[in-house]
Amino acid sequence: MSRKPFIAGNWKMNMTVASGEKLINELKPLVKDANCDVCLCVPAILIPAMKKAAEGSNVEIGAENVHWAEKGAYTGEISADMLKDYGVKYVIIGHSERRQYFGETDETVNKRTHAALNAGLTPIVCVGELLEERESGKTNEVLDRQLKVGLNGIADVTKAVIAYEPVWAIGTGKTATDEQAQETIAYIRKKIGELFCPECAEKIIIQYGGSMNAANCKGLMAQPDIDGGLIGGASLKTDFATIVNYDK
Ligand code: 13P
Repeated sequence: MSRKPFIAGNWKMNMTVASGEKLINELKPLVKDANCDVCLCVPAILIPAMKKAAEGSNVEIGAENVHWAEKGAYTGEISADMLKDYGVKYVIIGHSERRQYFGETDETVNKRTHAALNAGLTPIVCVGELLEERESGKTNEVLDRQLKVGLNGIADVTKAVIAYEPVWAIGTGKTATDEQAQETIAYIRKKIGELFCPECAEKIIIQYGGSMNAANCKGLMAQPDIDGGLIGGASLKTDFATIVNYDK
C-alpha cells in the first residue's frame, strides 16, 4: 500500500499578515509541482489572510491547535467549526510546546483529536520523548503511553496523521539521525498495528519533526517508514520549498 508523502510547516508564534503573505507568494510557484501534500499550519488569527494568499495553489492552510468542545465558555479557545469556516483541513494537536508550556496532557490530546475527527478535520497528533527519556531508554515506553492514551477510542486512526517529534531535536539544530528517526517511526507504526489493526499501520501517515531542513530532508525522507515532515524553523523561509521538493 503506498502512502502519499505529506510535508507540513508549523509557523508556531511567528509571522504577521504582511510577512506571511510575502512568504506564501514566494512559495506558491516553488512548490506547485510537488509530489507530496503540502500544508502550512499558522497562528489562528492569520488563517483567513493566509488562506486567501494560498488560494488556487496546492498549499493547504492548517491550524496549530483546536479546542475539544463544540462551543461554550472557554475564553481564548477556538473550535473545530470555527476552523472549518475558513476551509481549514489540518490541525496540529499535542505539540510538545503545548505539553511543556500550556499543560497539554495525553488526555487533552485525546479529547482534541476526537473533536477534530468528529468535525472532519485531519489532526496531526504529535508524540515524542524528552532527552532524558531517550537517554534512560524510556523512548518506547513514552511513545506507548502517548499513543495509547492520545488515540484512545478513535474509530479510524488512519484519518489522523502522526508526527514523531523527539523533543530534544526541536529548535535545537540537533536532528535525529536517519536511522534513529526510521527506527522510532517504525516502532510507532508497529504500535499502531497492535493498538488498532495491521492495515491501519500500513496506511497511516507518520511524519518526522525536529530540526528538519533543506540539507537533511532527503536522507530522512528516504527512510521506508518516514512519510513526511513537520517543519518548524525552516517553514518560515523559502527553504520550505526545498523540503517539499525533496524528491527532485
Ligand atoms: P524545528 O523544525 O524548528 O526544529 O521545529 C520542529 C517542530 O516543532 C515542528 O512542529
